[in-house]
Amino acid sequence: MIDDSYLDISDHDSFQNGVPHKTFERLRNEEPIFWTKEKNGRGFWSILRHGDILRVNQNHKVFSSERGIRIEDQTEEEYIARRTFQETDPPTHRKIRSLLNPAFSKQKMDGYENLVRELASNIINEAIQKNKFEAVDSIAKKLPMLMLGRILGVPEIDLDWLVQKGDALIGNSDPDFSELIIDKEDSEKYRLMPFRSPAGADLFEYAEKIIDGRVDIAEGGILYEMLNHIKTSEGQQVMSNLEFKNFFCLLIAAGNDTTRYSIAMAVYQLSLNPKLFDYLKSSKNYSGAADEFIRVASPTMYFRRTATCDCEIHGKKIRENDKVVLWFVSGNYDNTVFNDPNRVNIDRYPNPHLSFGKGGVHFCLGTWLARMELKIILEEICLKIQSIKKLSEPTWTRSNFICGVKTLDVGIERRK
Ligand code: HEM
Repeated sequence: MIDDSYLDISDHDSFQNGVPHKTFERLRNEEPIFWTKEKNGRGFWSILRHGDILRVNQNHKVFSSERGIRIEDQTEEEYIARRTFQETDPPTHRKIRSLLNPAFSKQKMDGYENLVRELASNIINEAIQKNKFEAVDSIAKKLPMLMLGRILGVPEIDLDWLVQKGDALIGNSDPDFSELIIDKEDSEKYRLMPFRSPAGADLFEYAEKIIDGRVDIAEGGILYEMLNHIKTSEGQQVMSNLEFKNFFCLLIAAGNDTTRYSIAMAVYQLSLNPKLFDYLKSSKNYSGAADEFIRVASPTMYFRRTATCDCEIHGKKIRENDKVVLWFVSGNYDNTVFNDPNRVNIDRYPNPHLSFGKGGVHFCLGTWLARMELKIILEEICLKIQSIKKLSEPTWTRSNFICGVKTLDVGIERRK
C-alpha cells in the first residue's frame, strides 16, 4: 500500500489515484497554514482546516478573487483576457451575480423537477439495458450535460462537443481529456485563453458564433437572456463580448464535471457499500444523501484568493500579494466538524460542507441545480437497481483542482 501522507499537493500526479486524504489529514494536524514552494510559480499558502477556510472565504476584502482563482500565476494581461465575474470582488461581483441569481434560484430549479426526473429516468433505463457498463459515461455524465444544455439553451446536437471541450478545460492536466498537458507542455500560445487551453480557444470561437447569431440559442435560456434582456440598471449590456465568452466557458466548465463527479462518487460509494445502498432505499433520505455525496466527492478541491494586505493566521505571516489557497476538500474531512469524516453518513445533520464554497460571496451559483440532479438520479437508481458491484478499480482525473472518478466499471442487478 502506497503511503500518501507526504505527497506534494501542488503536483497533479499526487491526485492521480484519488485525493491524497492522508496528506491533507497530516497537514490539518501538523501545519494547517502551510507554505508550498512551486517549481514554476511564486509559492502559495494552503488553508486546510474547516473553520479557517470559512473565515478566509468570508473575508473578501483581505482575501480577494481579483487576481486569479487557481494556483497558476497570471500576468495582468492574462488575467484581464480570461476574467469572469468569479474573478471579481464586490461591488463589481455583486452587480452581475444579482442579475444571474434569479435564473439559478431554488424556485427556478424546482420548476425543472419534472424534466430532470424524465431525463434521469431515461438515463437509468438505458444504462440498465446491460448488466455491465462504465458508470461515468452511462450515468454520471449525462444528466449534468443535458440539463446544462437546457439551462443555457444551446442546441442539443452540440452538447457532446461542448462537454468534451469543458472536460479539456478543467482537465487541462489530464492526458485523457486535454491535447495539451498544462504542466508538461508549452502553453504560451494559449495564455490568453481560458485555462490556458486550446479547448478555451475552441469555446471562444463557439461563443462568438452565439454572439453573431450563427448558433441558434433557445429563447428563455440563460445565454439568450444575457445577450438580449438582462441589462444593468442603466439599461446597458451586462457583459462585454469578451466577458460573455469567458462567462460561457465558465458555465460549460463549472456546470458539468462537478456534478458528474458527485454522481460518480455516489455510484462508487453505493458499489462499495451494499448496506448503504439498502439504507438509502429504505430511508429515502435522498436530499441528505445528495449533500453527503457532494461532501465526500468535493469535486472542486480548492479555489484561490490573493492577500490584499499583510496579515497573520495562526502565527503565519501572510504578505500582501501572497496566493492563499482554500482547500475545500480538506475542510470537508476535518474531524473537528464532521464526526467520522471518512464514513458516508447520509443522515449527517447539519452537513456544513464546503463543496459549494460556503461562506463566500462566490458561493456556487449552480447549488440548487446540482443538488436536485443528485437527489433525483439517486431516486431513480434506487427505484430501478437492486445492487451495484464495482468490477475494477476506478480511475481518477489527474488534477489538483478538480478531482473525481473518471471511469468506473460496474455490474448491476435490476430491481424486480
Ligand atoms: C456538485 C456540483 C458543483 C460543485 C461542487 C461546485 C462548486 C463550486 C464552488 C466551490 C464555487 C465557489 C468558487 C469560489 O469560491 O471562488 C462555485 C462557483 C460557481 N459555480 Fe459551482 N459547483 C457545482 C455545480 C455548478 C453548476 C451545475 C453550475 C452551473 C450550471 C455552477 C456554476 C458556478 C458558477 C457560475 C460559479 C461562480 C459564482 C460566483 O463567482 O459568484 N456550479 N461552484
